[in-house]
Amino acid sequence: MAPKLSHQVFGAIFLFLVLQPFVVKSRPLEPETLRNLERAQNGDTLNGLSQVKKYLKAFGYYPNDLNLTDDHFDDSLESALKAYQQNYYLKVTGKIDHDTIKTMMIPRCGVPDIIPIRTSNGTGGTPHGVIFHLVANYSFFPGNPRWSRYQLTYNFLPGVQVVSPQVLRPIIAQAFQTWANVSPFRFQEVAQGNRADIRIGFYRYDHGDGYPFDGPGNILAHAFAPQDGRFHYDADENWSPNPTASNQIDLQSVAVHEIGHNLGLGHSQDQAAIMFPSLPAGATKRNLGQDDINGLRALYGY
Ligand SMILES: *[C@@H]1O[C@H](CO)[C@@H](O)[C@H](O)[C@H]1NC(C)=O
Ligand SMILES: *[C@@H]1O[C@H](CO)[C@@H](O)[C@H](O)[C@H]1NC(C)=O
Ligand SMILES: *[C@@H]1O[C@H](CO)[C@@H](O)[C@H](O)[C@H]1NC(C)=O
Ligand SMILES: [Zn+2]
Ligand SMILES: [Zn+2]
Repeated sequence: MAPKLSHQVFGAIFLFLVLQPFVVKSRPLEPETLRNLERAQNGDTLNGLSQVKKYLKAFGYYPNDLNLTDDHFDDSLESALKAYQQNYYLKVTGKIDHDTIKTMMIPRCGVPDIIPIRTSNGTGGTPHGVIFHLVANYSFFPGNPRWSRYQLTYNFLPGVQVVSPQVLRPIIAQAFQTWANVSPFRFQEVAQGNRADIRIGFYRYDHGDGYPFDGPGNILAHAFAPQDGRFHYDADENWSPNPTASNQIDLQSVAVHEIGHNLGLGHSQDQAAIMFPSLPAGATKRNLGQDDINGLRALYGY
Protein backbone atom coordinates (compact mmCIF):
# COMPACT_ATOMS: atom_id res chain seq x y z
CA MET A 1 0.00 0.00 0.00
CA ALA A 2 1.06 3.60 -0.48
CA PRO A 3 2.91 5.02 2.51
CA LYS A 4 0.85 7.57 4.37
CA LEU A 5 2.08 11.14 4.41
CA SER A 6 1.18 11.53 8.08
CA HIS A 7 3.59 8.77 9.00
CA GLN A 8 6.43 10.13 6.92
CA VAL A 9 6.10 13.50 8.61
CA PHE A 10 5.69 11.80 11.95
CA GLY A 11 8.92 9.85 11.47
CA ALA A 12 10.88 12.84 10.34
CA ILE A 13 9.82 14.91 13.33
CA PHE A 14 10.57 12.20 15.82
CA LEU A 15 14.16 11.75 14.72
CA PHE A 16 14.91 14.78 16.83
CA LEU A 17 12.81 14.02 19.85
CA VAL A 18 13.31 11.91 22.93
CA LEU A 19 10.46 9.84 24.34
CA GLN A 20 9.98 10.39 28.03
CA PRO A 21 8.94 7.39 30.09
CA PHE A 22 5.23 7.69 30.72
CA VAL A 23 4.15 6.79 34.21
CA VAL A 24 0.65 5.43 34.78
CA LYS A 25 -0.40 6.05 38.35
CA SER A 26 -4.17 5.84 38.08
CA ARG A 27 -6.41 3.89 40.38
CA PRO A 28 -9.23 2.16 38.54
CA LEU A 29 -11.96 4.53 37.49
CA GLU A 30 -14.98 3.13 39.37
CA PRO A 31 -18.25 2.74 37.43
CA GLU A 32 -20.21 4.49 40.24
CA THR A 33 -17.88 7.48 40.08
CA LEU A 34 -18.40 7.73 36.34
CA ARG A 35 -22.18 7.31 36.49
CA ASN A 36 -22.44 10.12 39.07
CA LEU A 37 -20.62 12.39 36.66
CA GLU A 38 -23.00 11.92 33.73
CA ARG A 39 -23.65 15.24 31.98
CA ALA A 40 -20.79 17.00 33.83
CA GLN A 41 -19.45 19.90 31.78
CA ASN A 42 -17.04 22.82 31.80
CA GLY A 43 -17.45 24.97 34.94
CA ASP A 44 -18.77 22.17 37.18
CA THR A 45 -17.00 21.09 40.36
CA LEU A 46 -17.91 17.50 41.24
CA ASN A 47 -16.36 14.71 43.31
CA GLY A 48 -14.54 12.25 41.07
CA LEU A 49 -13.59 14.63 38.26
CA SER A 50 -9.94 14.33 39.30
CA GLN A 51 -10.19 10.57 38.65
CA VAL A 52 -11.48 11.19 35.14
CA LYS A 53 -8.53 13.53 34.60
CA LYS A 54 -6.09 10.88 35.82
CA TYR A 55 -7.71 8.27 33.57
CA LEU A 56 -7.39 10.54 30.53
CA LYS A 57 -3.83 11.42 31.47
CA ALA A 58 -2.84 7.77 31.86
CA PHE A 59 -3.86 7.11 28.26
CA GLY A 60 -2.13 10.13 26.76
CA TYR A 61 -4.87 12.77 26.52
CA TYR A 62 -3.07 15.36 28.66
CA PRO A 63 0.34 16.92 28.41
CA ASN A 64 2.74 15.35 30.90
CA ASP A 65 3.14 18.09 33.43
CA LEU A 66 -0.30 19.31 34.50
CA ASN A 67 -1.53 19.26 38.10
CA LEU A 68 -4.61 17.05 38.01
CA THR A 69 -5.53 16.83 41.69
CA ASP A 70 -8.66 18.99 41.70
CA ASP A 71 -12.30 18.19 40.91
CA HIS A 72 -12.90 21.26 38.76
CA PHE A 73 -14.07 20.80 35.16
CA ASP A 74 -11.73 23.22 33.38
CA ASP A 75 -10.78 23.98 29.76
CA SER A 76 -8.01 21.40 29.69
CA LEU A 77 -10.41 18.63 30.81
CA GLU A 78 -12.78 19.70 28.06
CA SER A 79 -9.94 19.52 25.49
CA ALA A 80 -8.83 16.13 26.79
CA LEU A 81 -12.40 14.78 26.61
CA LYS A 82 -12.81 16.09 23.08
CA ALA A 83 -9.58 14.40 22.00
CA TYR A 84 -10.73 11.15 23.63
CA GLN A 85 -14.14 11.35 21.93
CA GLN A 86 -12.53 12.10 18.60
CA ASN A 87 -10.14 9.17 18.97
CA TYR A 88 -13.03 6.78 19.67
CA TYR A 89 -15.29 8.20 16.94
CA LEU A 90 -17.80 9.36 19.58
CA LYS A 91 -19.83 12.54 19.32
CA VAL A 92 -17.35 15.30 20.26
CA THR A 93 -19.26 17.09 23.03
CA GLY A 94 -16.47 17.89 25.51
CA LYS A 95 -18.88 16.68 28.22
CA ILE A 96 -19.02 13.47 30.22
CA ASP A 97 -21.95 12.03 28.30
CA HIS A 98 -23.47 8.58 28.24
CA ASP A 99 -21.45 7.18 25.31
CA THR A 100 -18.19 8.48 26.76
CA ILE A 101 -18.93 6.81 30.10
CA LYS A 102 -19.82 3.55 28.35
CA THR A 103 -16.55 3.61 26.42
CA MET A 104 -14.44 4.39 29.50
CA MET A 105 -15.97 1.49 31.42
CA ILE A 106 -14.74 -1.15 28.95
CA PRO A 107 -11.55 -2.91 30.15
CA ARG A 108 -8.56 -1.94 28.07
CA CYS A 109 -4.84 -2.15 27.37
CA GLY A 110 -2.55 0.00 29.52
CA VAL A 111 -0.52 1.41 26.64
CA PRO A 112 -1.50 5.08 26.08
CA ASP A 113 -3.52 5.86 22.94
CA ILE A 114 -1.41 8.94 22.36
CA ILE A 115 2.25 8.65 23.27
CA PRO A 116 3.37 11.91 24.84
CA ILE A 117 6.65 13.33 23.67
CA ARG A 118 9.10 15.93 24.82
CA THR A 119 11.95 17.58 23.04
CA SER A 120 15.37 16.65 24.32
CA ASN A 121 15.57 20.00 26.15
CA GLY A 122 12.47 19.09 28.13
CA THR A 123 10.07 21.72 26.82
CA GLY A 124 6.90 20.17 25.40
CA GLY A 125 6.98 18.72 21.88
CA THR A 126 3.93 19.67 19.83
CA PRO A 127 1.81 22.57 21.10
CA HIS A 128 -0.10 20.28 23.45
CA GLY A 129 2.63 17.72 23.90
CA VAL A 130 0.58 15.06 22.14
CA ILE A 131 0.43 13.56 18.67
CA PHE A 132 -2.83 12.66 17.00
CA HIS A 133 -3.15 10.19 14.16
CA LEU A 134 -6.18 11.48 12.34
CA VAL A 135 -5.51 10.19 8.85
CA ALA A 136 -4.78 6.53 9.50
CA ASN A 137 -6.46 4.29 12.01
CA TYR A 138 -3.35 2.26 12.75
CA SER A 139 -0.43 3.97 14.46
CA PHE A 140 3.20 3.38 15.37
CA PHE A 141 5.27 4.33 18.40
CA PRO A 142 7.20 7.62 18.21
CA GLY A 143 10.18 7.20 15.90
CA ASN A 144 8.60 4.10 14.29
CA PRO A 145 10.78 1.60 16.18
CA ARG A 146 10.84 -1.88 14.62
CA TRP A 147 12.78 -5.14 14.56
CA SER A 148 15.65 -5.49 12.11
CA ARG A 149 14.82 -9.18 11.44
CA TYR A 150 11.73 -11.33 11.07
CA GLN A 151 12.84 -14.36 13.12
CA LEU A 152 12.00 -13.68 16.76
CA THR A 153 12.13 -15.79 19.89
CA TYR A 154 9.88 -15.65 22.95
CA ASN A 155 9.62 -17.22 26.36
CA PHE A 156 7.80 -17.05 29.68
CA LEU A 157 9.14 -15.35 32.75
CA PRO A 158 8.81 -16.87 36.18
CA GLY A 159 6.68 -14.69 38.44
CA VAL A 160 3.10 -14.70 39.56
CA GLN A 161 1.65 -18.04 38.50
CA VAL A 162 -1.85 -17.22 37.32
CA VAL A 163 -2.38 -19.60 34.42
CA SER A 164 -0.56 -22.92 34.22
CA PRO A 165 2.13 -23.17 31.52
CA GLN A 166 0.26 -26.10 29.94
CA VAL A 167 -2.75 -23.85 29.40
CA LEU A 168 -0.83 -20.73 28.43
CA ARG A 169 1.70 -22.13 25.94
CA PRO A 170 -0.69 -23.18 23.15
CA ILE A 171 -2.67 -19.95 23.54
CA ILE A 172 0.43 -17.82 23.11
CA ALA A 173 1.66 -19.99 20.23
CA GLN A 174 -1.65 -19.40 18.44
CA ALA A 175 -1.47 -15.66 19.09
CA PHE A 176 1.98 -15.51 17.49
CA GLN A 177 0.78 -17.68 14.61
CA THR A 178 -2.00 -15.15 13.93
CA TRP A 179 0.65 -12.55 13.10
CA ALA A 180 2.93 -15.02 11.29
CA ASN A 181 0.03 -15.95 8.98
CA VAL A 182 -0.07 -12.46 7.46
CA SER A 183 3.56 -11.37 7.63
CA PRO A 184 7.14 -12.59 7.15
CA PHE A 185 7.50 -12.86 10.96
CA ARG A 186 8.31 -16.28 12.43
CA PHE A 187 8.30 -16.94 16.15
CA GLN A 188 9.98 -19.62 18.16
CA GLU A 189 9.66 -20.41 21.86
CA VAL A 190 12.92 -20.81 23.77
CA ALA A 191 13.36 -22.26 27.24
CA GLN A 192 13.06 -20.17 30.39
CA GLY A 193 16.36 -18.66 31.34
CA ASN A 194 17.50 -18.23 27.74
CA ARG A 195 17.59 -14.77 26.29
CA ALA A 196 14.43 -14.21 24.19
CA ASP A 197 13.30 -11.25 22.10
CA ILE A 198 9.77 -11.21 23.57
CA ARG A 199 9.29 -12.07 27.26
CA ILE A 200 5.85 -12.81 28.66
CA GLY A 201 4.80 -12.74 32.30
CA PHE A 202 2.09 -11.92 34.84
CA TYR A 203 2.57 -9.02 37.24
CA ARG A 204 0.52 -7.11 39.76
CA TYR A 205 0.36 -3.44 40.75
CA ASP A 206 3.74 -1.67 40.67
CA HIS A 207 6.20 -4.10 39.10
CA GLY A 208 9.14 -1.86 38.40
CA ASP A 209 8.66 -0.78 34.78
CA GLY A 210 6.94 2.56 35.40
CA TYR A 211 3.52 1.28 34.36
CA PRO A 212 1.85 -0.08 37.51
CA PHE A 213 -1.18 -2.30 37.06
CA ASP A 214 -4.40 -1.40 38.86
CA GLY A 215 -5.58 -4.65 40.44
CA PRO A 216 -8.90 -5.92 39.11
CA GLY A 217 -9.47 -2.57 37.36
CA ASN A 218 -9.55 -1.09 33.87
CA ILE A 219 -6.08 -2.14 32.74
CA LEU A 220 -5.64 -5.66 31.39
CA ALA A 221 -2.07 -5.82 30.09
CA HIS A 222 0.65 -3.83 28.36
CA ALA A 223 3.60 -4.42 26.08
CA PHE A 224 6.60 -2.39 24.96
CA ALA A 225 7.65 -1.19 21.53
CA PRO A 226 10.57 -2.82 19.64
CA GLN A 227 13.14 -3.83 20.44
CA ASP A 228 12.26 -4.06 24.11
CA GLY A 229 10.11 -7.17 24.04
CA ARG A 230 8.35 -7.05 27.42
CA PHE A 231 4.74 -8.27 27.41
CA HIS A 232 2.96 -8.16 30.78
CA TYR A 233 -0.46 -9.44 31.77
CA ASP A 234 -2.14 -7.91 34.84
CA ALA A 235 -2.23 -10.89 37.21
CA ASP A 236 -5.35 -9.58 38.98
CA GLU A 237 -7.75 -9.93 36.07
CA ASN A 238 -10.15 -12.84 35.79
CA TRP A 239 -8.22 -14.58 32.98
CA SER A 240 -9.73 -17.39 30.96
CA PRO A 241 -8.58 -19.56 28.04
CA ASN A 242 -12.18 -19.53 26.82
CA PRO A 243 -14.50 -17.01 28.45
CA THR A 244 -17.90 -18.44 29.26
CA ALA A 245 -19.00 -15.76 31.72
CA SER A 246 -19.34 -12.03 31.19
CA ASN A 247 -16.68 -11.23 33.80
CA GLN A 248 -13.87 -13.29 32.25
CA ILE A 249 -11.08 -11.89 30.08
CA ASP A 250 -9.80 -13.85 27.09
CA LEU A 251 -6.08 -14.61 27.30
CA GLN A 252 -5.63 -15.11 23.58
CA SER A 253 -7.42 -11.93 22.44
CA VAL A 254 -5.22 -9.87 24.73
CA ALA A 255 -2.10 -11.76 23.59
CA VAL A 256 -2.73 -11.01 19.92
CA HIS A 257 -3.13 -7.32 20.82
CA GLU A 258 -0.02 -7.10 23.01
CA ILE A 259 2.14 -8.92 20.45
CA GLY A 260 1.03 -6.20 18.00
CA HIS A 261 2.70 -3.67 20.33
CA ASN A 262 5.80 -5.87 20.59
CA LEU A 263 6.00 -5.76 16.78
CA GLY A 264 5.71 -1.95 16.71
CA LEU A 265 2.03 -1.16 16.30
CA GLY A 266 0.37 1.46 18.50
CA HIS A 267 -3.36 1.69 19.07
CA SER A 268 -5.83 1.83 16.22
CA GLN A 269 -9.02 3.85 16.14
CA ASP A 270 -10.68 1.14 14.05
CA GLN A 271 -13.00 -0.92 16.27
CA ALA A 272 -12.49 -3.93 14.02
CA ALA A 273 -8.71 -3.84 14.51
CA ILE A 274 -7.04 -6.05 17.09
CA MET A 275 -5.06 -2.91 18.02
CA PHE A 276 -8.22 -1.10 19.17
CA PRO A 277 -7.45 -0.43 22.86
CA SER A 278 -10.45 -2.01 24.62
CA LEU A 279 -11.82 -5.52 24.93
CA PRO A 280 -15.15 -6.05 26.70
CA ALA A 281 -15.11 -8.69 29.44
CA GLY A 282 -16.55 -11.96 28.18
CA ALA A 283 -15.65 -11.16 24.56
CA THR A 284 -13.20 -12.92 22.29
CA LYS A 285 -11.48 -11.05 19.47
CA ARG A 286 -8.62 -13.18 18.21
CA ASN A 287 -8.45 -12.30 14.52
CA LEU A 288 -6.64 -9.42 12.91
CA GLY A 289 -8.48 -6.69 11.08
CA GLN A 290 -7.38 -5.45 7.67
CA ASP A 291 -6.16 -2.30 9.45
CA ASP A 292 -3.71 -4.36 11.55
CA ILE A 293 -2.37 -6.15 8.48
CA ASN A 294 -1.96 -2.85 6.62
CA GLY A 295 -0.28 -1.21 9.61
CA LEU A 296 2.36 -3.90 10.02
CA ARG A 297 3.08 -3.95 6.29
CA ALA A 298 3.43 -0.15 6.25
CA LEU A 299 5.81 -0.23 9.22
CA TYR A 300 8.13 -2.88 7.74
CA GLY A 301 7.62 -2.17 4.06
CA TYR A 302 7.44 -5.82 2.96
C1 LIG B 1 -1.10 20.56 42.80
O1 LIG B 1 -2.22 21.19 43.42
C2 LIG B 1 -2.32 20.94 44.81
C3 LIG B 1 -3.63 21.53 45.29
O2 LIG B 1 -3.88 22.79 44.73
C4 LIG B 1 -1.10 21.54 45.50
O3 LIG B 1 -1.16 21.29 46.88
C5 LIG B 1 0.16 20.89 44.93
O4 LIG B 1 1.30 21.48 45.48
C6 LIG B 1 0.21 21.05 43.41
N1 LIG B 1 1.32 20.28 42.89
C7 LIG B 1 2.11 20.73 41.92
C8 LIG B 1 3.20 19.80 41.47
O5 LIG B 1 1.97 21.83 41.40
C1 LIG C 1 13.70 23.38 22.96
O1 LIG C 1 13.66 22.70 21.74
C2 LIG C 1 12.63 23.17 20.89
C3 LIG C 1 12.55 22.24 19.67
O2 LIG C 1 13.84 21.83 19.26
C4 LIG C 1 12.93 24.63 20.52
O3 LIG C 1 11.91 25.12 19.67
C5 LIG C 1 12.96 25.45 21.80
O4 LIG C 1 13.31 26.78 21.49
C6 LIG C 1 13.97 24.87 22.78
N1 LIG C 1 13.85 25.58 24.04
C7 LIG C 1 14.90 25.92 24.75
C8 LIG C 1 14.62 26.62 26.06
O5 LIG C 1 16.06 25.71 24.38
C1 LIG D 1 -11.03 3.97 10.50
O1 LIG D 1 -11.94 3.26 11.32
C2 LIG D 1 -13.27 3.73 11.23
C3 LIG D 1 -14.09 3.04 12.30
O2 LIG D 1 -13.95 1.67 12.29
C4 LIG D 1 -13.77 3.48 9.79
O3 LIG D 1 -15.09 3.95 9.68
C5 LIG D 1 -12.87 4.24 8.83
O4 LIG D 1 -13.22 3.95 7.51
C6 LIG D 1 -11.41 3.85 9.03
N1 LIG D 1 -10.54 4.75 8.25
C7 LIG D 1 -9.47 4.32 7.57
C8 LIG D 1 -8.65 5.38 6.92
O5 LIG D 1 -9.18 3.14 7.48
ZN1 LIG E 1 -2.64 -1.80 23.59
ZN1 LIG F 1 4.77 -4.10 33.04
